[in-house]
Amino acid sequence: MRLILVGPPGAGKGTQAVHLAAHYAIPHISTGDIFRANIKGGTELGKLAMSYTDKGELVPDSVTNDMVKDRLNEADVANGFLLDGYPRNIFQAEVLRGILTEKQTPLNAVLELAIEDALIVARLSGRRTCKDCQASYHLLFEKPAVDGKCDKCGGELSQRPDDSEAVIQNRLTVYAEQTAPIIAFYRSEGLLVTIAAEGDVSEITSRAISALSTKVS
Ligand code: AP5
Ligand code: MG
Repeated sequence: MRLILVGPPGAGKGTQAVHLAAHYAIPHISTGDIFRANIKGGTELGKLAMSYTDKGELVPDSVTNDMVKDRLNEADVANGFLLDGYPRNIFQAEVLRGILTEKQTPLNAVLELAIEDALIVARLSGRRTCKDCQASYHLLFEKPAVDGKCDKCGGELSQRPDDSEAVIQNRLTVYAEQTAPIIAFYRSEGLLVTIAAEGDVSEITSRAISALSTKVS
């Protein structure tokens, strides 16, 4: 299965990606997670990325496209992949099409998570993320067993720097202006599957798997 997840910040891409990647036995590739791992590691890529992610702006295409191209050449993508947070504009979508055409591994589907803006702000302002393994929680909707500690690795939970109110607003603007146009792009290619991203996490996962059933390979 070669799948893309698209949707605004807070739609639940990362949350659903974990379950869908396990269901289809494919690697979950999140460009946001790769940037955050580099920021944490203090790499040159991390320093560059942070100057954009902290403001909610897109990291330049040249950097992001090369990073994804390298990742898609790794051995674990032989049986498919789930891309979360990439592509994020029409140019990235075109570059990805070129990479996959060259490898003769076209996409199976693009899953759009549709959600109202009001819910987005509630989800992002309550999100807490593990500093060590990046697992995602929510203060109200997905509480860890022990306050402030990751259930999976015991790491410390913290708020992402780009989950402040001002940066959330800019991320929504960037999404509307730069990312939303890829939905029409993939619709015209016959790849788009849209589901409502509201309700329980497990309910949304079941909805996604059922909506994708005709696209599986
Ligand atoms: P990225 O990490 O991709 O962030 P994003 O798109 O803003 O999306 P989020 O991770 O904030 O939300 P999500 O949809 O994953 O929601 P989640 O599952 O966590 O990108 C960050 C930055 O990196 C960008 O701003 C940019 O600077 C850069 N970047 C990344 N990719 C790039 C690219 N391709 N090109 C250029 N720059 C790029 O859920 C949110 C919260 O809601 C959690 O607390 C969760 O527990 C909760 N929740 C989830 N589902 C439910 C539910 N059903 N009910 C209740 N709560 C729920
Ligand atoms: Mg995410």
